[in-house]
Amino acid sequence: MRFKKICTADIGKKNCHTLAFYKKQGGYKQAAKALKKWAPDDLIEEVKASNLRGRGGAGFPTGVKWAFVPKNSKKPKYLVVNADESEPGTFKDRLIMEKNPHILLEGIIICCKAVAIEHAYIYIRGEFVFATERLQQAIDEAYKAGILGDNCLRSGIKIDVTIHRGAGAYICGEETGMLTSLEGYRGEPKLKPPFPAVEGVFGCPTVVNNVETLANLPYILEVGAKAYRSIGPEKSPGPKLFCVSGHVEKPGTFELPMGIPLRTLIDKHAGGVWKGRKLKAVIPGGTSAHVLTAAECDVAMDIDSLAAAGTMLGSAGIIVMDDSTCMVDALLNVMRFYHHESCGQCTPCREGTGWLEKIVQRIAHGEGRMEDLELIHDVCDRMLGKTICALADAAAFPAQSIVTKFSDDFVAAIENGGSPAWKKRHLSTVGGGASHG
Ligand SMILES: Cc1cc2nc3c(=O)[nH]c(=O)nc-3n(C[C@H](O)[C@H](O)[C@H](O)COP(=O)(O)O)c2cc1C
Ligand code: SF4
Repeated sequence: MRFKKICTADIGKKNCHTLAFYKKQGGYKQAAKALKKWAPDDLIEEVKASNLRGRGGAGFPTGVKWAFVPKNSKKPKYLVVNADESEPGTFKDRLIMEKNPHILLEGIIICCKAVAIEHAYIYIRGEFVFATERLQQAIDEAYKAGILGDNCLRSGIKIDVTIHRGAGAYICGEETGMLTSLEGYRGEPKLKPPFPAVEGVFGCPTVVNNVETLANLPYILEVGAKAYRSIGPEKSPGPKLFCVSGHVEKPGTFELPMGIPLRTLIDKHAGGVWKGRKLKAVIPGGTSAHVLTAAECDVAMDIDSLAAAGTMLGSAGIIVMDDSTCMVDALLNVMRFYHHESCGQCTPCREGTGWLEKIVQRIAHGEGRMEDLELIHDVCDRMLGKTICALADAAAFPAQSIVTKFSDDFVAAIENGGSPAWKKRHLSTVGGGASHG
């Protein structure tokens, strides 16, 4: 099937965020069909057949997740939309919420009908002030037009949508941390099982889906599961938002078929490595992903191809680094982030992220020892798979892969009294002080 942009096709057009504009493009037709014509089980089967996989990071099949929600539960069921978008290098969900918020609301309605949910919460990252305003405007418009509320699109079905703002913690993007925060507690993840589908927010069955995942639903109903599956690789298909940042001429968010070659994404869509420099490294799926060297970049950007290449699509936050990048400084930046964001419940994560930051910092600052390279691996081994949530793994993956694949940069920093950037800053401070003295 010919590829068509579904989230970003109209971005830049006047009033593209409004209900009037969205309806003119055929908006809410699929929601009306879902509410009035589709049986819940058939909707779940259609989404299963589409092979839609979660766009939040883990790539779990969406229809399969919905099917886990118990049908005979006497408790209310909830949908919690993950709009926390905190993974470094990721800026796609914000774009949808600011420029095309009704596509998200239409996806929410379809999911609610499939799983018999009457109340959806959108948990949005606290810093997203403009996106929150745009989303609230869209929700207000939808209530006023009878699209949301007690009698959605005159179907007799009730669906309410409430926005809940987070307070800027990365860990509140992890689904159980997010649900705990939504309940009013500290955003601390919980052990699974029970999974949210069985026992989620307020102890009730809960579907957690990412913004972009839900935004795919109207299109799946429009073209049908079979046609959707033909966009990109059959096992992880669909249109996909790729966020490209770092050392490229034209950074941005690009909507392309899943499975596009990474090189095409960088060289054609993002304008290539900037200033005529050479490619050194790429993080393909947000900083939690294993890094790729330039030689490893002939890979397709889809869930299974990247897993086979030893990394992951994650949140599709692609960070490009040119040959002037010192990987010691890059890793220090990443480790500082994870140490700061660890919620502290698990010792391997709380202590491990702290140790990783300290060890990489001493290498960067000219106090490193050769044994530190082995020590980094040792600390990572003690973190991986030993904690409540995957934040510890998310810190260990880049540490392991950057130290292994770019060991020359680390050896040079140890042998030469620190990383080039730190030495430059340090010497200019010392030199500056002397010249003024
Ligand atoms: C540390 C951590 C941070 C996460 N941050 C986000 C996030 O910001 N947004 C998101 O959608 N998923 C995030 N996830 C993944 C969610 O836990 C969950 O898998 C996802 O929201 C499910 O939706 P999906 O199936 O539609 O992808 C994070 C996971 C971890 C372990
Ligand atoms: S792994 Fe880290 S972030 Fe996750 S629950 Fe444990 S301490 Fe908190």
